Amino acid sequence: MNQTKRKTIIAGNWKMNKTASEAAELIDGILPAVQDACCEVVICTPFTSLVTAVEKCKGTNVHVGAENVHFEKSGAFTGEISADMLVDLGVEYVITGHSERRQYFAETNETVNKRTRAALAAGLKVIVCVGESLAEREQGVTEELVRLQTKIALKDVTAEEMQRIVIAYEPVWAIGTGRTATSEQAQEVCAAIRKVVGELYGSDVAEATTIQYGGSMNAANAQELLSKPDVDGGLIGGASLKPDDFGAIVAAARQ
Ligand code: PGA
Repeated sequence: MNQTKRKTIIAGNWKMNKTASEAAELIDGILPAVQDACCEVVICTPFTSLVTAVEKCKGTNVHVGAENVHFEKSGAFTGEISADMLVDLGVEYVITGHSERRQYFAETNETVNKRTRAALAAGLKVIVCVGESLAEREQGVTEELVRLQTKIALKDVTAEEMQRIVIAYEPVWAIGTGRTATSEQAQEVCAAIRKVVGELYGSDVAEATTIQYGGSMNAANAQELLSKPDVDGGLIGGASLKPDDFGAIVAAARQ
């Protein structure tokens, strides 16, 4: 990471975990564990815990995000949540394009782009996830694939809106598997993402864009991953549900 050029962001992705009452308890554990952070700290919770999270994090250094958003403003989309609904709750961030959404909920590069643009239009900050499967890595197409995912996700996003974009490189084979990318692999792909952002928006925007690594990042490996120049933070799944571990990852961003 390069804290002089861009913001370091450690974000938790709770996935489908914790009821609202359990969320309140978890946040009570997280707040003291991250209060001395010198990076931005975000927790992305299920929709049902957002009200609790926003309330509890008010006046603290923890920012709140959602895990998904629909691209239409309103209407007959049973079960969906719009960007305006999130903003009205006081939510600041949203994740788009997580591989679990691509894999289990038919998310495509095009819908990731639509969700990203809708979120930006409503004023949200967006953590856009990209990453290759194990088969794609073994086929040697990681860089091409991640370039393509990044380009399509950012289609029609303006240079000004890029100030509210974070890109998370999450190799699918490393998510929830305990198998972390090496810091060299993370660096290589994060640098490739920065390069494509530079091609699209110029080097100033590329240098200012936060690019996270995600996939089994934990208290033990965070420091090494974050020591790489193009790894500007982490998107943390499992370890974000444990205050001590999440706190240790946030502390690792203090180098
Ligand atoms: P993990 O999940 O840290 O549990 O691997 C990361 C993510 O999916 O964002």
